[in-house]
Amino acid sequence: MNKKSVQELAVLIGTTLDRFIHQEQSAFPYATGELSHLLRDIALAGKIINREVNRAGLVDLSGAMGHANVQGESQQKLDVIANIRFLRALQRGGEVCAIISEEDEGIIYTNNDNGKYVVAIDPLDGSSNIDVNVSIGTIFSIYRRVTPIGTQASMSDFMQGGRKQVAAGYILYGSSTMLVYSTGSGVNAFTYEYSLGEYILSHRNLRCPEDGSIYSINDGYFDEYDDYIRSYVLKCRKKGLTARYIGSLVGDFHRNSLKGGVYLYPATKKSPSGKLRLLYECYPLAFLAEQLGAVATDGQQAILDIVPQHYHQRTPFIVGSPAMVGDILEEKGPLTPPPGSCTDF
Ligand code: AHG
Ligand code: MN
Ligand code: MN
Repeated sequence: MNKKSVQELAVLIGTTLDRFIHQEQSAFPYATGELSHLLRDIALAGKIINREVNRAGLVDLSGAMGHANVQGESQQKLDVIANIRFLRALQRGGEVCAIISEEDEGIIYTNNDNGKYVVAIDPLDGSSNIDVNVSIGTIFSIYRRVTPIGTQASMSDFMQGGRKQVAAGYILYGSSTMLVYSTGSGVNAFTYEYSLGEYILSHRNLRCPEDGSIYSINDGYFDEYDDYIRSYVLKCRKKGLTARYIGSLVGDFHRNSLKGGVYLYPATKKSPSGKLRLLYECYPLAFLAEQLGAVATDGQQAILDIVPQHYHQRTPFIVGSPAMVGDILEEKGPLTPPPGSCTDF
């Protein structure tokens, strides 16, 4: 066998997440490495969740806790475990001063007021799929704090708006486990390699196709949707497009980003703001979407332009290939003017 240089071997084995983060950081001469550490902490917690998810059927980790979370939704054991794992990783990591989680009502302080960052997280997304061995995920969003370092973080650190995210991403626990993230210069995906215990760069600079043939929506609520959503769905059926809906946002988003498609969780009669949470589901995926060349909207405005009001606020969510989102907005017609604005001239 020919002797291979270290560089050739590295190309063969691939780029590990650690190496990639290090390379990205080196591109910024004044970077201090804190964001890199934080991303590594999230990746490490993801490895632990991955282990728990993989053995869930064996060690009585599936099933409900028997009580609800702050959203009034049934909490699964893995929801609770994932929350604990992520909070612990971020607390011990030292870069984060405060966290917002889907599973907790208010701010979680890490006892580290010197941390420069705050994180909003959905530790386990797609809970209804835990017990049935279907893909689930983690979604995270990172901001640089606006309150002074050394003081206690406050609500203002989390209410900066989606465009202020410095990084966002998700971990998909699917047929393989994958970490997908962006720091604002493209989206890269890393597949977890079990035997090495490493995430390896598998999809460099991902782009979402301009158009697609997949639409993802909960058809069971058809009668609950606004007219324009219903007529769009009818058009999709007529055109013979492919309907795919896992019920795990991360999985649906990932597939549509790779293949081209659109995901919709619109307003319903019962839930006029939809179901999905702005801070730790829609903002981070919208940040990734824009980096992928996709579009994310609530039907009125770009998701990233929504002004946040509270930690667990919900928003209608439409995200995917630009041409498909464009068709939906066309179906809707001209934007509704904001309440109180004059339309008489
Ligand atoms: P979570 O498990 O974090 O509460 O979120 C589940 C979300 C999302 O992943 C999925 O697309 C959607 O809920 C499914 O909701 P429906 O069952 O109402 O379609
Ligand atoms: Mn979720
Ligand atoms: Mn969740």
